[in-house]
Amino acid sequence: MKRVAVIGLGAMGAPIARRLLGHGCEVTVWNRSPQRAVALREAGAVVAESAADAVRGAEAVIVMVTDPPALLAVTEGEHGIAAGIGPGAVVIQMSTVSPAAVARLADALPAGTGLLDAPVLGSVAEAASGALRILVGGPPVLAERCLPLLSQLGSPLHVGELGAGTAAKLVANNALFGVLGVLGESLALGGALGLSWEVLHKVLAVTPLAAQAARRRPAIEADEYPARFALALARKDADLVAEVAGEVGAVGAADDGGPGLGLTAAARDWLRDAERAGRADQDYSAVLAHILHAVKKGPQQ
Ligand SMILES: NC(=O)c1ccc[n+]([C@@H]2O[C@H](COP(=O)([O-])OP(=O)(O)OC[C@H]3O[C@@H](n4cnc5c(N)ncnc54)[C@H](OP(=O)(O)O)[C@@H]3O)[C@@H](O)[C@H]2O)c1
Repeated sequence: MKRVAVIGLGAMGAPIARRLLGHGCEVTVWNRSPQRAVALREAGAVVAESAADAVRGAEAVIVMVTDPPALLAVTEGEHGIAAGIGPGAVVIQMSTVSPAAVARLADALPAGTGLLDAPVLGSVAEAASGALRILVGGPPVLAERCLPLLSQLGSPLHVGELGAGTAAKLVANNALFGVLGVLGESLALGGALGLSWEVLHKVLAVTPLAAQAARRRPAIEADEYPARFALALARKDADLVAEVAGEVGAVGAADDGGPGLGLTAAARDWLRDAERAGRADQDYSAVLAHILHAVKKGPQQ
């Protein structure tokens, strides 16, 4: 698979396209906002006028856009991927969307088109260095065929049939958001109880939060959160988690009246609240700063 089209040249799509160029692929790119393609043209990519044009003649098409509406926008219609893709080509859908959006994509593509859903763990640096974890859903034979291409971007893990990659990605992000939420709340609680910042970190270092507490400490201390994974995207993913959990009856479904996915809901609330407070364009880890600012010391006994 040497002829590859990359659709969507944002924070993740651009380094993916650049990496494939560096590994001998013939890369054609398209992005809704043309200025984002300029640097890739200079690096050797062919820049197409539309998604349909970009995928004509491609053996593999990588899609890396924001969310389900963006996926729909680049795949359907007269200028979309489905209108231009040739027989035998494979679409590798890497955006974080919902299983329903993947199913709709499958319906939109011409019969005979291969399709994998392959969202990723890791961020911009991992995309640039080929160190992504790629959660692949789709027919095992097709996943095997795409292994050499995907291995240039990271470590593919086949997790099941079509849609399973997306489900796995939402589970992974749900874990991440929950950990950040409980880290922020633990730091806020410790502060409210009068523990020093230094002591708090010593305590957290001997808990299951140790790795995240150490990793996030410098950003909290500098109060700087330059976006790698924008908080608005994390909130989008938390919304997708709520959507899919609702669809399968997993939220509040505990027969005994228990809270269902209560921690999941709380983590989403923090992300939404941080976004409303103006942190949409910061890194998603800025939710920690938001929690620290938002949690007030309760009434003193
Ligand atoms: N950043 C990370 O660390 C990270 C990590 C793992 C997974 N992800 C996931 O990867 C995906 C891409 O993330 P990103 O950080 O690269 O986002 P990004 O920088 O915001 O880029 C989003 C891309 O989607 C395009 N797009 C959005 N709406 C569109 C529409 N209606 N029609 C056509 N194109 C549209 C944008 O085009 P324009 O340039 O024209 O706006 C841009 O190319 C998301 O699903 C995200 O959740 C991100």
